[in-house]
Amino acid sequence: MTGDISRVIRLPDQPTLDTMALSHVPIPQPGPDDVLMRVRATSLNFHDYLVVGGFIPVPAGRVPMSDGAGEIVALGAHVTGFAVGDRVMGAFFPDWVDGIPTDLNNARISGETTDGFAAEHVVIPAHSLTPMPKGWSFAEAATLPCAGLTAWRALVVEGDLAAGDTVLLPGSGGLSVYALQIAKALGLTAIVTSSSDEKLKRLAALGADQGINYRTDPAWGKAVRALTKGIGADLVIEIGGQSSFAQSVTACRMGGRIMVVGSTANGAPELPLRDVVMHHIRVNGMAVGSVSQLRNLVSFVETHAIHPIIDRAFAIDQLAEAFRYQLTGAHLGKIAVTL
Ligand SMILES: NC(=O)c1ccc[n+]([C@@H]2O[C@H](COP(=O)([O-])OP(=O)(O)OC[C@H]3O[C@@H](n4cnc5c(N)ncnc54)[C@H](OP(=O)(O)O)[C@@H]3O)[C@@H](O)[C@H]2O)c1
Repeated sequence: MTGDISRVIRLPDQPTLDTMALSHVPIPQPGPDDVLMRVRATSLNFHDYLVVGGFIPVPAGRVPMSDGAGEIVALGAHVTGFAVGDRVMGAFFPDWVDGIPTDLNNARISGETTDGFAAEHVVIPAHSLTPMPKGWSFAEAATLPCAGLTAWRALVVEGDLAAGDTVLLPGSGGLSVYALQIAKALGLTAIVTSSSDEKLKRLAALGADQGINYRTDPAWGKAVRALTKGIGADLVIEIGGQSSFAQSVTACRMGGRIMVVGSTANGAPELPLRDVVMHHIRVNGMAVGSVSQLRNLVSFVETHAIHPIIDRAFAIDQLAEAFRYQLTGAHLGKIAVTL
């Protein structure tokens, strides 16, 4: 394979969607503890847009995209437990294998502080790999390591929830739709929000128990209380930033938990600290999860026959177009990219 050519997207200095281009490079060779993966799919996360849009600075030459699924085509000399032909997924934090997050195991972030998966061939450490769920396509598997794992960690690893508890899931993006699927498999009551009544109908068809349009009902925190007999949700996933955080506090029950995973809207959140204190709310920041948590999630989706909702798939040479589509907000669930 040495000397063969592979396609890759390497970002220039100060990237924009207009400067993304494929180039041709020799196929890299794995080190002793690495594998060479033929990447077959990646998927879009909001974090990837911040990188390719130049909002998170990365060195020139960085390969973007944190999600990747493909097949192993070569093994380093020390690698055990994997074979050529295995269908595997990479990890958002390739060195966070197990245990708690640390500065060291969170230092490398795929597609940001180390190269990601917008490439036909990548060399990655064997310890970062998780076998794909059985029966899943590469495009499906490429949606799991960031959005799926974040939803899993928020609800299951950190969530401290029991069947019958109520969760508030914001918007209809990749993370929230995964959270909805996991919540319903766990017997939770799911209240969803969206800016679109049409999407609320589609979320109801996926099992959402109640829906609130956060655009036409900006005081949606009160609406959540009304839907929960004045009690509030046991757990709220918070992605909105700005005034959304105040609504999440209103939506959260006394002693409940707010999982802060993003700030999709720009600006510093208004912090209703008195209510956070007086309502005994646990505010829990978190970023994705570990390889071992992803492996647990694989067992869960296999047991519950969950498949991700993929809104649309693009080819790798349409990556900029895929991001422009994401920015329209028209999608529900994940946007995949095949290679
Ligand atoms: N911390 C982590 O580990 C982690 C991991 C993954 C994602 N995230 C974060 O989670 C957020 C969503 O990510 P994603 O990958 O799912 O993005 P995505 O697929 O692009 O979804 C974005 C969706 O979020 C909804 N939304 C936007 N602004 C909102 C607001 N103010 N209130 C409620 N919903 C809003 C919209 O849904 P409607 O069209 O239905 O209105 C939009 O379609 C981002 O902030 C991202 O950074 C964090």
